[in-house]
Amino acid sequence: MDIRRLTDRLGGLAFGGDYSPEQWDAEVWKQDDELMRHARVNLATVGVFSWALMEPEEGRYDFGWLDGHLDRLHAAGVAVDLATPTAGPPPWFSLAHPDALPVGPDGTRLTHGSRDTYCVAAPAYRRAARRIADALAERYGDHPALALWHVHNEYVSLCHCDHAAAAFRVWLRARHGSLDALNEAWGTAFWSQRYTSWEQILPPRQSQWHRNPGQALDYSRFWSDEALAAYREQRDAIRAHSDRPVTTNLMLPRYQNLDLWAFGREVDLVSVNHYPTGPGVEAAAHAAFDADRARSLAGGAPWLLMESGTNTVYAGDRVLPKEPGDILRNSLAHVARGSEGALFFQWRQSRAGAEQWHSSMVPHAGPDSRMFREVTALGEHLARLGELAGSTVRAEVAVLHDSDAWWAMQVDGLPSGELEYYPALRRAHRALWDAGLTVDFAHPEHDLSRYRVVLAPALFLLTDAGAENLRRYVADGGTLLLQHFGAAVDEHLHARLGGYPAAPLREALGIRVEEYRPLAQGEELALSDGSTGSSWSESLRTEGAEAVAAYTHGMLTGSPALTRHTFGSGHGWYLSTRLDDAGYATLVGRLLTEAGVTPDLPGLPAGVEAVTRHAPDGRSWHLLLNHSAEAVPLPQPAHDLLTGATLSRVPAGGCAVLRAL
Ligand code: GAL
Repeated sequence: MDIRRLTDRLGGLAFGGDYSPEQWDAEVWKQDDELMRHARVNLATVGVFSWALMEPEEGRYDFGWLDGHLDRLHAAGVAVDLATPTAGPPPWFSLAHPDALPVGPDGTRLTHGSRDTYCVAAPAYRRAARRIADALAERYGDHPALALWHVHNEYVSLCHCDHAAAAFRVWLRARHGSLDALNEAWGTAFWSQRYTSWEQILPPRQSQWHRNPGQALDYSRFWSDEALAAYREQRDAIRAHSDRPVTTNLMLPRYQNLDLWAFGREVDLVSVNHYPTGPGVEAAAHAAFDADRARSLAGGAPWLLMESGTNTVYAGDRVLPKEPGDILRNSLAHVARGSEGALFFQWRQSRAGAEQWHSSMVPHAGPDSRMFREVTALGEHLARLGELAGSTVRAEVAVLHDSDAWWAMQVDGLPSGELEYYPALRRAHRALWDAGLTVDFAHPEHDLSRYRVVLAPALFLLTDAGAENLRRYVADGGTLLLQHFGAAVDEHLHARLGGYPAAPLREALGIRVEEYRPLAQGEELALSDGSTGSSWSESLRTEGAEAVAAYTHGMLTGSPALTRHTFGSGHGWYLSTRLDDAGYATLVGRLLTEAGVTPDLPGLPAGVEAVTRHAPDGRSWHLLLNHSAEAVPLPQPAHDLLTGATLSRVPAGGCAVLRAL
């Protein structure tokens, strides 16, 4: 989709959030109109959890109340992102279709009373979801307020019910073709698990001990495809009536039920939700990680931050507030990386209900509050950044990201409980972010030729095509770092025989791993270069590579821990342990130096982030975010779009947006 259609319609970057007028009365609606105008809100997401109002009983739709709100918002100059309400089936639905309630791996069927109580594979749910999407699109497809369609909310819930089992079997037939092929792929010769009819196959429900890893991995793939099919049905029902772009808000979580690349290909506009899990610099690094992922899922195209919290940091068992100024800096962290605006959950803080304590743009205290003043200031700032619309971001380095590899690392029976995908991905991104770089994510089978350095953490599963692609990337001049336990299995989770990793990569890396040697919890191994390894070690030998660091302890004394191989015109690096933070930063720094990668704006002090957005006509803008407690001088005074003034320093905790010369 041409993103300019959205930003042209909005007259600049998007600003607003989820709006639930059904929780309030006419007096509040009137105030909402005024406050939205005051805060320069130009986009409101309506209807996300309004199924019970839209369809009060099965098959009877009532959209009268919604007509009024869409017309009112239009009159107030606020465009609408209209949601299908399918993440919140009403109680009547669950009572009429109890078989559509989700079932856990232990066989427990959930009840209604929360949200997301549906199985995406249940025929009754799918029918009802398609029908309401169709009815909404028929009624509002051409509404003048409508700017964007928002299908569902965060496809995320898993189910293990009999409907899911039946759909899984259909999926397996298509994937494997025959039972023989499935038995081979899943290694059912082990533990006498051979299947002799499709009906014998179940989702990976709770069992006696380790469940079959091939079955678990295929179930994850199946589930993502099923959710995607449910999305497509709604999207296509909408497209039959409306030419406005369609999205679904992806959550970029620490756990993962979706192949995000696949969703990225099916939406007209990638939109994501982001909630930080720690304050301060951790929040900034997390925002950069999610925003870089969102842009990558969009193939580098502009995307949209659909939700974030004005005053919400999810920190374990509590929700921490944000400090003054954070809302602007956090929002610009996304805009810097290609978001076409900043939206929030939600506009007005609910008086009652499960998320009554969740922060909002208008808090319980009302507009006379720090929060609403900061929100209004954010609206003003974003309004000044309209010229950035449609510009994009470039990166010279990438981290590989593959759902199959992630799911593969969640199966039972792996050799260490410390083999975790998400933390490894975060760490690789963080090392590059700390080095001042903008980072893309890429799939191992993508064309990687535009990247000078590619990090491959936790890439446990790698297909033959992926291994060949990475070999070629190095041969053609790239610098690749494959990390421990990498490329150990193929797409069926079958171990690579004859030495790890997969053969084409062994050639590019110039090594052969003979034995994986997990370490005890807390155990640390000193390496010859002064760094320390923990969690994991490997017995490997070089076959052409140089040993950059060696183990200095026990059986592995003198054996390579970190290797570097010149292959073709590139370099293949292999790291066989989990390095301490400083050691990892040094290693990544060396890779970057050798590959000649430098930040867009070199020389900025630690804690100051700079990202550049480029317009197709050659204009560009530097967005500077100062996460530190000190004001930072600019190399030379420059005009700042945020304030409209000439700046010579970026204030502590502040931001600047400078037109590049
Ligand atoms: C999002 C969700 C919203 C709201 C928010 C709270 O993941 O889409 O509906 O629940 O979390 O942080």
